[in-house]
Amino acid sequence: MIDFHGVKIPAIGMGTWHMGSDPGLYDQQKATLQYGLHHGATVIDTAEQYGSGDSEKIVGDAMKGFPRQKIFLISKFLPYHATKHAMADALDRSLERLGTDYLDLYLYHWPGGTPLAEVVNNMEAMKKSGKIRHWGVSNFDLSDMKELLSVPGGHDVMANEDLYNIGSRGLDYEVLPWQRKHGIPLIAYAPVDQADTRGNGIIKNTTLEKVASEHHANAFQIMLAWVVRDDHTLAIPQTDSQKHMQENIDAAKIKLTDDDLKALDKAFPKPTHKQLLDII
Ligand SMILES: NC(=O)c1ccc[n+]([C@@H]2O[C@H](COP(=O)([O-])OP(=O)(O)OC[C@H]3O[C@@H](n4cnc5c(N)ncnc54)[C@H](OP(=O)(O)O)[C@@H]3O)[C@@H](O)[C@H]2O)c1
Repeated sequence: MIDFHGVKIPAIGMGTWHMGSDPGLYDQQKATLQYGLHHGATVIDTAEQYGSGDSEKIVGDAMKGFPRQKIFLISKFLPYHATKHAMADALDRSLERLGTDYLDLYLYHWPGGTPLAEVVNNMEAMKKSGKIRHWGVSNFDLSDMKELLSVPGGHDVMANEDLYNIGSRGLDYEVLPWQRKHGIPLIAYAPVDQADTRGNGIIKNTTLEKVASEHHANAFQIMLAWVVRDDHTLAIPQTDSQKHMQENIDAAKIKLTDDDLKALDKAFPKPTHKQLLDII
């Protein structure tokens, strides 16, 4: 478990981006989410954007019968819904699809044109209404985070959700050190670099393979253990497979040693200059 801005949650949860839209995969995806819930992956990350609501619907279906208070449920609103009334309507639609009356965390999916002071004001009103417990942001770079903390109420941000994995560690240059200094956790999306399909050539790396074999684990599990190594980061890998789900849950138990981390730093060096925020 990690201390997530005062709330205890597992370090590895479940992503749901491509879920719910393919009728041929529906039962398998729902069963995988339920398997995850019953085996300790009680954080779910979804968004109104995913499958135009289909992801929230399958998540709502999968959560039925499972104690709601044991789930940490995250959803997101689109930037063009960031004004007061559009945001309230978007939240109501998300809650309806999810079959719940509150979200644990509501994220501004990426920075848009609405002034941040207004977005924060809207989120704080939603918190007061009881429909969300916390709010946060996503795809924010350091300049966005600094601006956020400069507006009234901005310090109440619970977390920032950005792309982060061992093959794409631009955040290590300044975003993560800054977030740690300000006590703002990271939600790492694409933590296994979309099964290493983004051209970063991670899985076959000999150092990663060696560390994996020493821990009797596979390379994806080491990627996840690396992402959550600081007890300050939540990883939300997505999988349609119960076998992969169990591997992902087990990855949270792998404690990388200082020597492992040094070797991995050598194989996947920290950035030495500012990089463009990686996004999908
Ligand atoms: N905030 C944002 O803007 C944003 C953007 C993108 C994503 N996200 C969130 O982050 C979540 C994760 O990101 P992502 O889905 O893009 O990428 P990801 O989790 O890095 O990769 C998903 C892929 O990895 C495979 N996989 C997962 N666990 C595995 C394992 N143990 N062994 C082998 N393969 C494994 C899955 O295939 P199998 O199904 O075969 O396991 C799937 O193809 C999304 O679902 C979404 O909730 C947020």
